[in-house]
Amino acid sequence: MSDDKRLTITSLCALKRQGTPIACLTAYDATFGELCDAAGVDMILVGDSLGMVVQGRENTIAVSVDDMVYHSRCVVRAVQRAFVIADMPFMSATTPAAALENAARLMREAGVSAVKLEVGARQLDAIGALAENGVPVCAHLGLRPQWVHEIGGFKRQVRSSAEKRALVELADEAVARGARMLLLECVPADVADEISERVEAPVIGIGVDSQCDGQIMVIYDILGAGRTPLFAKNFLSGASSIGGAIQAYVKAVKRGRFP
Ligand code: KIV
Repeated sequence: MSDDKRLTITSLCALKRQGTPIACLTAYDATFGELCDAAGVDMILVGDSLGMVVQGRENTIAVSVDDMVYHSRCVVRAVQRAFVIADMPFMSATTPAAALENAARLMREAGVSAVKLEVGARQLDAIGALAENGVPVCAHLGLRPQWVHEIGGFKRQVRSSAEKRALVELADEAVARGARMLLLECVPADVADEISERVEAPVIGIGVDSQCDGQIMVIYDILGAGRTPLFAKNFLSGASSIGGAIQAYVKAVKRGRFP
């Protein structure tokens, strides 16, 4: 397939402008990468959730840049059309210099087209440095799993109106610094809707009761495999194959039927 069939950050922005929901899933290996691509998934995230669902850890803290490079490379090799993006793991972007070095590894050695960074106010400089150096960044806001020890568990985030205001301001600031995409995890629908309306960048939701501009799920959570979160839906139960389940997920997102 020629490069012009490959989705890019600008094609994902065009989907938002057209009002076409963006269907995203995680994948960690070539087989699932290929299945997602064949089913029409627009964006594949090689998530640091691999620490939990592949490596069997309690959280994502121990995932290394080497782990991310290895799994991202496996996925990129198998994918022809989807936009492939990789997580910057815990402590890999504590300074702009570290962020640049680690993002360069993910792009050069693994071939991903963008990176995702769990963002608080301290990561805004890293977003700026990456954007200025041609790295598309997805800013992950709301429940940030790398903050698990700070938060005290994987809990829904942003309850009060002050917290909603702070999230909107952080989203605005991340986009102003150059983030090309936002991912909102486990935040209330009203604040997700407000952010999706005010920014041009695509806003992807997970565990959010709103369409946003697109949806992402951990792939095993749509296949009913492992310990699935409450917001998961098993698409395999109505399908005859894993590929069919992924297609059903893509169709549900595209038609606004999931979540
Ligand atoms: O690592 C991951 O899989 C993620 C998803 C939960 C969006 O960040």
